[in-house]
Amino acid sequence: MTAQPISTVLITGGAGFIGSNFCHMLAELRPDWSIVNLDALTYAGNLENLTSLEGLGGYTFLQGDIRESSAVEKALDAAGDPATVGVVHMAAESHVDRSIEGGLPFVSTNVLGTQVLLDACRARGIGRFVHVSTDEVYGSLGAQGSFTEQTPLAPNSPYSASKAASDLLVRAAFQTHGFSACITRCSNNYGPYQFPEKLLPLIIANAREDKDLPIYGDGLQVRDWLFVRDHNEAILAVLEGGRPGEVYNIGGNNEMPNLHLVRLVLKELAKPESLITFVKDRPGHDRRYAIDASKIKAELGWQPRFTFEQALPLTIRWYLSQTQWMQRVRSGAYRDYYARQYGA
Ligand code: NAD
Ligand code: TYD
Repeated sequence: MTAQPISTVLITGGAGFIGSNFCHMLAELRPDWSIVNLDALTYAGNLENLTSLEGLGGYTFLQGDIRESSAVEKALDAAGDPATVGVVHMAAESHVDRSIEGGLPFVSTNVLGTQVLLDACRARGIGRFVHVSTDEVYGSLGAQGSFTEQTPLAPNSPYSASKAASDLLVRAAFQTHGFSACITRCSNNYGPYQFPEKLLPLIIANAREDKDLPIYGDGLQVRDWLFVRDHNEAILAVLEGGRPGEVYNIGGNNEMPNLHLVRLVLKELAKPESLITFVKDRPGHDRRYAIDASKIKAELGWQPRFTFEQALPLTIRWYLSQTQWMQRVRSGAYRDYYARQYGA
């Protein structure tokens, strides 16, 4: 039987950083599709990322928690005919430092929430499901080599352990029930709408105000920076063409030590390197991540379109121009938006 074309995407966590960028991208690239955005609006969910979509007929926002099956059922009702629905699962607790403070919310949302979502989607007969995961499930690399889809899972933080657990539940849904799901594992994203607890928006905001830039340990930890638009195009490619049961690594071909990244930002902002302040290292800090993304390139023809030289200045300019967005995030004022707009 040939699958029917997708006409609706149900996204979880669509008010977060990657999710809101994904919604904007879908509105641009697949304007005929409808979007149902299910998001609990934790501290990381910001509806002010999505104001330009609110007027569009095909966009529906539902505040709801993926751990509650009634909320998931409501979202599936709103999405309509399961034969034409694709689910993109991004909702998660996502910040490593918060997981070090306390792992329970991570287990609760990332593990339990994923299982609730899987059960509900399977019961409805959803035939396309992408679980958005992370390269952090593979653990840390030495100076050489990169993660392939065959690299054993060896997570080191409560965050990455909870993501690895959710990946295994998705795998089990495929192996046991034949549930048609793919898993994507990407490297560190950067771009607009990222919550300023993460490295890049944090240092842009601090440097702009001549505040110290906290660099963990020696700052020589290596990350592979991936522009969020490239990541989202890869997720779309997997949604439309990924083979069920498969894992796809997604990377930016752009490895660098944190300190190097921070220096590039300071140069772009014409701020002094004396703002760099070395602070106590993160416990269990992974030294190096690097992604081998040859599988997704060979199978789905995806590769990053943006170079760092293009997308870093673009990202910095976005944060500099969005002073109100940044102020409202930092003051917490963004959290009033749902009540004002949706009268809840
Ligand atoms: P984010 O923290 O910015 O957004 C997460 C969103 O999920 C928020 O809108 C939040 O309100 C929502 N959410 C949290 N708990 C929920 C729940 N119980 N029910 C419903 N919604 C809930 O995260 P992000 O950076 O956009 O990451 C999105 C996904 O991509 C996550 O699964 C994350 O693990 C993965 N990922 C992110 C990166 C990165 O660099 N940001 C890298 C690799 C993988
Ligand atoms: P982060 O943005 O938290 O992403 P992740 O932990 O998922 O890789 O951190 C990126 C890198 O920057 C990581 O090596 C930790 C480091 N870092 C700092 O040095 N200082 C900071 O204030 C933050 C938030 C991160």
